[in-house]
Amino acid sequence: MRSSRAGQNPLDGIEMHSQLSRDTLWVPLLGLTMLFLPVVYAAKCPQQCVCDQIQLTVTCVNKNLTEVPPTVDEITVKLDLRGNDIQELPTRAFRHTPYLTHLSLQRCNIRRVKEGAFRGLGRLVFLNLASNNIDILYQESFDGLSSLKQLMIDRNRVEEIQPGAFSQLGFLNLLSLTHNQLVYIPNMAFQGLQNIKWLRLSHNSLNYLDIEAFAGLFTLNRLSLDHNELQFFPTETMTRLAEVTRLDLSYNPMTYLGEESVSMAKLSHLFLDHMSLQDLANTAVSKSPSLTHLDLSHNQLRVIQPFSGGTPKLARVHLTGNPIYCNCYMRPLREWAIRSKVKLVGTCAGPLHLSGEILDAVHPPELRCQSQEAMLKAEFEEASRRAPPPTEEPENKVKCPSNCVCEAETHHSSCENRGHTKVPRGFSPATRLLDLRGNNFHYIPSNSFPGVSQVVSLHLQRCKVVEVEDGAFSGMKGLIYLYLSENHISSLRPEAFKGLPQLTYLHLEKNSFTIFPEGAFKLLPGLLALHMENNSIAKLEANALKGAESLRALYLTGNVINHVSPKALEQATDLDTLHLAANKLKDVPTEALRNLENMKDLRLSGNAIRWVGPNAFQPLGKSLRELYLDNMGLEKMSQSSLAGLGPGLRSLFLEGNKLEEVPDLHPLSSLEVINLADNPLMCDCPLLPLRLWIEKVNLKVRATCANPPELRGRRVKDVHVFKACPGGEALPFVPSVAPKRAKTPKATKPKPMHLGGVKQAKMFKTKSKPRKGPKMKGGKKRA
Ligand SMILES: *[C@@H]1O[C@H](CO)[C@@H](O)[C@H](O)[C@H]1NC(C)=O
Ligand SMILES: *[C@@H]1O[C@H](CO)[C@@H](O)[C@H](O)[C@H]1NC(C)=O
Repeated sequence: MRSSRAGQNPLDGIEMHSQLSRDTLWVPLLGLTMLFLPVVYAAKCPQQCVCDQIQLTVTCVNKNLTEVPPTVDEITVKLDLRGNDIQELPTRAFRHTPYLTHLSLQRCNIRRVKEGAFRGLGRLVFLNLASNNIDILYQESFDGLSSLKQLMIDRNRVEEIQPGAFSQLGFLNLLSLTHNQLVYIPNMAFQGLQNIKWLRLSHNSLNYLDIEAFAGLFTLNRLSLDHNELQFFPTETMTRLAEVTRLDLSYNPMTYLGEESVSMAKLSHLFLDHMSLQDLANTAVSKSPSLTHLDLSHNQLRVIQPFSGGTPKLARVHLTGNPIYCNCYMRPLREWAIRSKVKLVGTCAGPLHLSGEILDAVHPPELRCQSQEAMLKAEFEEASRRAPPPTEEPENKVKCPSNCVCEAETHHSSCENRGHTKVPRGFSPATRLLDLRGNNFHYIPSNSFPGVSQVVSLHLQRCKVVEVEDGAFSGMKGLIYLYLSENHISSLRPEAFKGLPQLTYLHLEKNSFTIFPEGAFKLLPGLLALHMENNSIAKLEANALKGAESLRALYLTGNVINHVSPKALEQATDLDTLHLAANKLKDVPTEALRNLENMKDLRLSGNAIRWVGPNAFQPLGKSLRELYLDNMGLEKMSQSSLAGLGPGLRSLFLEGNKLEEVPDLHPLSSLEVINLADNPLMCDCPLLPLRLWIEKVNLKVRATCANPPELRGRRVKDVHVFKACPGGEALPFVPSVAPKRAKTPKATKPKPMHLGGVKQAKMFKTKSKPRKGPKMKGGKKRA
C-alpha cells in the first residue's frame, strides 16, 4: 500500500506535469486574496497541522487523522493531508474550505469517495488521490470540480469506472489512473472530458478496450497504455482518436502488428517497444501519415520489410534489442531507409561478422546471404551462442592449454597477448572461436590446429607471422573467418590454405605483400571476401584470382597498384565490390572490368587519375550502384565518361577534384547521393546542364562556384548566370543579392515563379537544411 514515489513533496505529482497549469491560476488568486487581508490575521489552525498564513497553506501530514479536520481556515488555498487514515470521504467533505486550489490526499487509506465528496470546490485545480484503496469511481464522485485541471488517482485499486464518473470535469487536462486494476474500458468511460490532453492508463491489466472507449475525447493528444495486457493493437478504438499525437503501448504482450493496424491521422510518436512482436506487416503504419518516430525496440524482430508508403514524415525507427539478423533479407529495409532518409537505431545481432554493427553504418552491399550451408552454420553458431546447450564437462574442467582462457559455455578460447611463441595445443574439440592474436609465432607450421574442427573464427592478428606452411590449417573444416591481418606475410604458398572448405572471409590486410599472391586462393572455393588493404602490391597481373571463382568482394585499398591487367579479374565474375582506393592508378581500369557484370561498388578514390575518358564505366552500366571518384586530382571528365550508367547508380562521389565542368548527369535518374564539393566549378553556360539537373532532382548536391571570381563560394543553384544561357530561361528567379554566408536560409529563399509548384516546394524544403559543405568551402577559399 505504501508508495515509495508518492508523498515526498507537497506538490506531489504537479512537479511532473508542471507545464500543464501550475502557475496559471495559483499566482493571480494568491495575489488577489492577500490584498484583502490584514497583515496580522489570527487564523484558525487545527491542532495537528502546520499553517502558513502568508501562503495560505495548511499541512497535516502523517497524523493518523481519521477525518478532514473541520477547523481549517476558510481562506486556505492549499491543503495537504497526505498520510492520514480517512477511509471514506463523505459528501461535501470540504465544505468549510471553498477557496482550495490544491488538495493532496495521498496515502489516506481512502476506500470510498462518496458522491459529491468534493462539491463546493469550484476553484480546485489540482487533486491528488494517489496511493489509496479506491476501487470504484462512482458517477458523482467528482461532481463540482468545475475548474479541476489535474486529477491523480494512481496506485489505487480502481477496477470500475461508472458511466459519467468524469462528466463534470470539463476543464481537466490530465487524468492519471496508472497502477490500478482496470481490465477493460467500457464505451464512453471518459465522457465529458472536453479539454483532456493526456490520459494515463499505464500499469493496469487492460486486455480489452471497447470500440467507443475513448469516445468524446476530441482534444486528447497523448495516451499512455503501456504495461497492460493488450494482445492486439486496438485499431478501431484508436482510429477514433483524431488528435492523438503520442501513443504509448510499450510492454503489452502483442506478437504481431497486422496490415494497416495503426490508422491515426495525427499520430507522430508511436511506442511499441518491449512487446513480443515477432512480425510486422509492411503496411502496419501506412495509415498514419504524420508518424515521425516509431519505437520497436526490445521485441523479437529478426527481419523487417521496408515500410510501404504512407509515412512520408517518418524519421526514426528504433530497433535496439531485437535479434536482427543482418543478411540479404534486411537489405531492402536498409536501402529503403537510405532512400527515405529514415534513421534506423539499433545494431545487428548476427551473423557473426556483423554482430554489434550499428544498422545505419552497414552498407546495403554488406547485407548478403551466404551459401545455404554457410548460412545454416552461422545460424547454428548464433543459436548456440544465445542458448548454450547443457555441456557435459563442468565449467572448470574444459580442456585448455596453459596460459590461455577457455570458456565452456561460449566455446571461446583465448590466448591473446600472452607471448606464446608456438601455437598452443590442447583446446577443447568444441571450441568455436579461437583467439590467438598478439603472440610471437613468426610462422605457422603445417597442421597447427589439430582436433579443433569446429572452430568458426580464428584470430591470428599481430603474430609476427612471416610464413604460413602448406596445410597449416588442415582439418579446420568449419572455419569461416580467418584473420591474418597485421603480420609480415609477403607471399603465400599454393597449399597454404589447404583443408579449409568453408572459409568465407579472409583477412590479409596490413601485411608485406608486394605481389598479389596469385594462385593461393584456388583451394578456397567458398571465399567471398578477401581483404588485402594496406599492403604494397604494385600490379594485378592476369589470372590473379584464379580459383577464387566465387569471390564477391575484393579489398585492395591502400596499396601501390599502378597497373591492372585486362585479364586480372577475369575469373571472378561474381565480384560485386572492388575497392581500389588510395593506389597509384593513372587510368580507370576499364578493360579489367569487362566481365564484371555484377559489380555494384567500385572505389577509385585517391588515385592519381587526372582524366576519365569516354565509356570508362560502360561494362558496369547495368549493375553499378556506387561509384567513388573523389580526391583524385581529376581535372576533366569526357562528356561521355559516364555513358552506360543510368538509373541503377545510387551514389556518385566526385568531391575533392579539380573539375571545372561535369558531364551531363540527367541519365542518373535514381541518384540518392552525389557529392561535388571542393571542385573549382566554372559557373558559366557550359555548366548549364548541371544547373538544370540540380533543378530537377531533390538532392543535396554540394556544388559551389569557384569562378568567375565574383561568384566564388556561391552555390551553383543560387547564382543567376545560367538564366542568361540558351536553354536556361526556364530556371527560377534567384535574388541577385543573395548574401554569401547568410545565416538563415530563409533570407535567400527564392520564390517559385513558374513551373510545377509542387516540385519546387519540395526542393525548397531540401534547400533550407544546413548547408555545411559549400559554406565552409567559401570561407576556406577566401582565407
Ligand atoms: C499513527 O498510528 C500508528 C499505528 O497505529 C502509530 O504507530 C503512529 O505512532 C501514529 N502516528 C501518530 C503521529 O500518531
Ligand atoms: C589502412 O591504413 C589506413 C591508414 O593508416 C587506415 O586508416 C585504414 O584503417 C587501414 N585499413 C585497413 C583495412 O587496415
